[in-house]
Amino acid sequence: MTGTAGALACTLLNRDYVDAREGACVPVMKIDVLTIFPEFFREVFDFGIIRRAKLAEIVEINVHDIREYATDKHKMVDDRPFGGGDGMVMKPEPIFAAIENLLGTSDRDAYPEGTRVVLLSPQGRQFKQPVARWFANDAKHVVIICGRYEGVDERVNDALVTDEISIGDYVLSGGEPAAVVVVDSIVRLLPGALGSETSADNESFEGGLLDCPHYTRPAEFRGMKVPDVLLSGDHAEIDKWRHEMALEKTIRYRKDLLRGENGESGSD
Ligand code: ADE
Repeated sequence: MTGTAGALACTLLNRDYVDAREGACVPVMKIDVLTIFPEFFREVFDFGIIRRAKLAEIVEINVHDIREYATDKHKMVDDRPFGGGDGMVMKPEPIFAAIENLLGTSDRDAYPEGTRVVLLSPQGRQFKQPVARWFANDAKHVVIICGRYEGVDERVNDALVTDEISIGDYVLSGGEPAAVVVVDSIVRLLPGALGSETSADNESFEGGLLDCPHYTRPAEFRGMKVPDVLLSGDHAEIDKWRHEMALEKTIRYRKDLLRGENGESGSD
């Protein structure tokens, strides 16, 4: 769909992003995942909110096999580290070629506006809710490189990467599980992804607190009762109770949030 018709369709679909040249209606966000294990992602984006967002064309997600960009006859994607040491390091050539294919350039300064190239590694800055929100609000095209082995040749970081991100202080065997975490937490924040009946505004970390406890029917289960206030119909009291419970959980588990130590926002 192009031109004014495309722009009109975007308005009707409540879509944010209209391709400037064509007036075409394109997804709010495009995500490309670069991995040496594409099979890992075969179905993982086909459930729940992400599936719905894909079907509604709010997001387009594509997974690419880095090995397909290797040019030597053995399709090598890793090699021994200079200077010696354990393990293997991911080679730069296939990753540069993949980025050039996706973005038309390997010059970070020439990336199209709204493009972020993320390297997932335990060395990165910590991924938190404000960072997810920054991506959801400001990025149009996110390319995620899943690191493997002992690491990725640092020239990838130096030349291509805009954001090196870690999902926490533990070491995974590779960036693939982290990519699922990052994609999920961003996509659900895209406009329209949660649907009109749900909002991300009252979730954990929004407003600096963990979420309050939730209950559904039955009102009594194996002798355990739902707190009376939730059955009272008094919405002011319910809001007050929810706030107190959220505060109590936050004090118990995450005092750092109350000290504002989770307030990091935006991107590099
Ligand atoms: N790869 C290995 N460990 C990781 C982590 N904690 N976060 C992101 N990518 C990783």
